[in-house]
Amino acid sequence: MDFRIFAFIMTKEETYSSLLSQARFLLSGERDIIARMANLAALLHGGMGFWWTGFYRVSGEELVLGPFQGPVACIRIPKGRGVCGTAWQERRSIVVPDVDLFPGHIACSSESRSEIVVPVFRQGEVVAVLDIDSRELSTFDDTDRMWLERISALVYGDWKDIWFAAGCFWGAQKFFKRIRGVEYTEVGFANGHLSNPSYEQVYTDSTGHAECVHVRYNPETVSLERLAELFFAIIDPLSLNKQGEDAGTRYRTGAYYMDEEDRAVLEKVFSKTAGSLGVASMPVELAPLECFYTAEEYHQDYLDKNPGGYCHINPELFLKAAE
Ligand code: SME
Repeated sequence: MDFRIFAFIMTKEETYSSLLSQARFLLSGERDIIARMANLAALLHGGMGFWWTGFYRVSGEELVLGPFQGPVACIRIPKGRGVCGTAWQERRSIVVPDVDLFPGHIACSSESRSEIVVPVFRQGEVVAVLDIDSRELSTFDDTDRMWLERISALVYGDWKDIWFAAGCFWGAQKFFKRIRGVEYTEVGFANGHLSNPSYEQVYTDSTGHAECVHVRYNPETVSLERLAELFFAIIDPLSLNKQGEDAGTRYRTGAYYMDEEDRAVLEKVFSKTAGSLGVASMPVELAPLECFYTAEEYHQDYLDKNPGGYCHINPELFLKAAE
């Protein structure tokens, strides 16, 4: 006899994906930020079964407790202090597998054993953080980080995200951040096999990552189709692993999505571009985003900080982006 057990168990990714859709629906039409935070905290807390889930809002040089679910918590956290204050100061998400090993961790409750903190951005500034605590060690990983970054981005609007690898990420970021409707950009390393790689490690071309720009945009102002067309304007889509002076798999080109529904839109632009070049296919990846690690701070907005820095993109295209 063949005994089989059929179980319907949602993976963590599937649960987050469903919560993201529910959150969009729940928040649509509501402009009050506290109300949006309150329902997001409740949705995540119930949906994921977290132990403590809540927001801290930036107020001057401190974080102040905002809407949350769970036991009572510390009310004020100075900038740079604890996991929350550090995530704010360093403008990045922090996953803490064991709170006792995080220097300066603030123990609001002795029951909390592991934690994740995700900054909430508004027009490039951190305006709040989402903090989630667990009574078990090592509860959170990169999957949580990626989904929580997307869900917490809903606090200030219904942004969408797409990741483009377009050769050297310095110029690619400068290009995409100029486009009207692009709310936020960040450079990093996508779809490789090493966790949290440094620029030096990726530079060896052995970690599998591509230099990539995370583009967060307002779909009411700029469409994914338009962004994909502009992406093709800054790359040579027939060149394999080489853009401008840069060669290596880390400089491969690609569009990486998290929403399956984005694939069809991207496919359309890919085939239109291939058609106009008279080729059947191009060495440009079109794939789900598997991972994305933010690059070191000195790479962020590099060409704004270093106006004379190397760039493979024709300067006229920056004017096109601004139009
Ligand atoms: N542990 C946090 C403080 C907030 S509570 O966990 C709710 C920190 O170190 O920032």
